[in-house]
Amino acid sequence: MRNKGEKNDLESRLPVSVTRDSTVSLLKVLTTLIVFVVGVVIGLTSSSHIDRYFTFQAEQIIANNALADTVSRANNNNNGSCSVCEKEDCLSMESFVRLKILIHGMSDDELFWRASLEPYKKEFPFKRVPKVAFMFLTRGQLPLIPLWERFFERQDVNKYSIYVHALPGYVLSISNTSVFYKRQIPSQHVEWGSVTLVDAERRLLANALLDFSNERFVLLSESCIPVYNFPTVYKYLIGSIHSFVESYDDPSRYGRGRYNRRMKPDIKLSDWRKGSQWFEMNRTLAVKVVSDTKYYDIFRRLCTPACYPDEHYIPTFIRLFYGPLNANRTVTYVDWSLGGPHPATFSAVNITEGFLKSIRNNGTACSYNSEKTHICHLFARKFEPSALEPLLNLSSNVLEF
Ligand SMILES: *[C@@H]1O[C@H](CO)[C@@H](O)[C@H](O)[C@H]1NC(C)=O
Ligand SMILES: *[C@@H]1O[C@H](CO)[C@@H](O)[C@H](O)[C@H]1NC(C)=O
Ligand SMILES: *[C@@H]1O[C@H](CO)[C@@H](O)[C@H](O)[C@H]1NC(C)=O
Ligand SMILES: *[C@@H]1O[C@H](CO)[C@@H](O)[C@H](O)[C@H]1NC(C)=O
Ligand SMILES: *[C@@H]1O[C@H](CO)[C@@H](O)[C@H](O)[C@H]1NC(C)=O
Ligand SMILES: *[C@@H]1O[C@H](CO)[C@@H](O)[C@H](O)[C@H]1NC(C)=O
Ligand SMILES: *[C@@H]1O[C@H](CO)[C@@H](O)[C@H](O)[C@H]1NC(C)=O
Repeated sequence: MRNKGEKNDLESRLPVSVTRDSTVSLLKVLTTLIVFVVGVVIGLTSSSHIDRYFTFQAEQIIANNALADTVSRANNNNNGSCSVCEKEDCLSMESFVRLKILIHGMSDDELFWRASLEPYKKEFPFKRVPKVAFMFLTRGQLPLIPLWERFFERQDVNKYSIYVHALPGYVLSISNTSVFYKRQIPSQHVEWGSVTLVDAERRLLANALLDFSNERFVLLSESCIPVYNFPTVYKYLIGSIHSFVESYDDPSRYGRGRYNRRMKPDIKLSDWRKGSQWFEMNRTLAVKVVSDTKYYDIFRRLCTPACYPDEHYIPTFIRLFYGPLNANRTVTYVDWSLGGPHPATFSAVNITEGFLKSIRNNGTACSYNSEKTHICHLFARKFEPSALEPLLNLSSNVLEF
């Protein structure tokens, strides 16, 4: 207020003083002017301006420290992403939407929480091409990689992403031109048959959920092969109104026999389901699976051998809450016809044109989006490494890739 008053004063005086033809009064005016200007400057400086300047500086220092802190913490925890953050703006849309590096230092709790975040706003501020996430759960090397590489060859990289959960410390040896290069996620020890197998599945889902473009999530193993080409698989999965999680009621001791009555009242025997571990699901279901704590805990505590969480947890959880979203069948072919605890394994001698054709279409019709189709399976297992050569031989003729 004071400054403003002085300024008005000055403005009203100036014209008067200039018209006077006297050196004395001119000098007086000049002196007054200088005093006023100095006054104004001091007034301005001592009030808001200095405060604002210092506040601004302080904020900058705090912000810089926070950034330095974040980067140095990232440096300590996160091998890989740290050096990128020093050079790039890690909050940019580009790095948020298109993660370049899959390695991170998050614990499962942190990862699952982040993966459970869903945008409330439905329109994307970028061109979102829905992707299929191919998630490989493997112990060691992926011997059938050459077939998969042929499957992905010349396909639109905006339509798929690959994730590999291998044993901790295991580094896939692949050339830097492979689509599998640097696609390993931070992994943990997995014991087949135990809940750690479910943990690994959820870890794959959660890592894949961090990419907002991933729309369909398919779990695969090192012995799986694709039996249709990429465009067919993509269209089939992206176009499906259902997820493909096998979920059925098995009255035998291998199904209902594994139910634990202490799971009541949360899980009733009539809700108890069994299904192949090798699922395919859409984003909605994937978020639900990584967000669940209650039912996961029940399975962790009460589903122990001869109950296998990987065959019951997801089929039962989906049956409980999201049954209508599920096709209840799997898109991954497997042959149980020989009986016993393990499905048939196919080696080089078993790979014939007729065999592959029968997996693609054996005359059975399956329902797809409430219609009938002869394409029931997109993938198949279990194939030994020796099957690779004959598969590559037949892929262009029979598998059409
Ligand atoms: C980061 O990498 C260094 C050497 O490459 C290694 O010694 C260290 O244990 C790693 N830290 C973490 C958290 O993985
Ligand atoms: C891939 O590796 C080769 C040799 O191992 C190297 O010459 C080439 O620069 C690498 N390419 C990329 C993109 O890293
Ligand atoms: C997943 O599938 C369900 C059932 O078809 C559908 O309602 C939901 O919108 C789908 N989720 C996404 C993210 O598309
Ligand atoms: C799958 O089973 C659920 C019941 O768990 C049912 O509601 C749903 O309609 C079934 N899906 C199809 C495609 O029949
Ligand atoms: C594979 O072929 C061998 C030799 O013909 C046969 O003995 C075996 O049963 C076949 N395996 C399967 C799973 O069909
Ligand atoms: C075709 O495959 C389905 C599912 O695997 C199986 O139930 C059916 O018996 C097969 N049909 C023939 C004719 O082999
Ligand atoms: C691949 O196909 C060629 C020609 O059709 C045949 O001579 C060769 O034996 C096949 N190799 C294998 C491993 O099946």
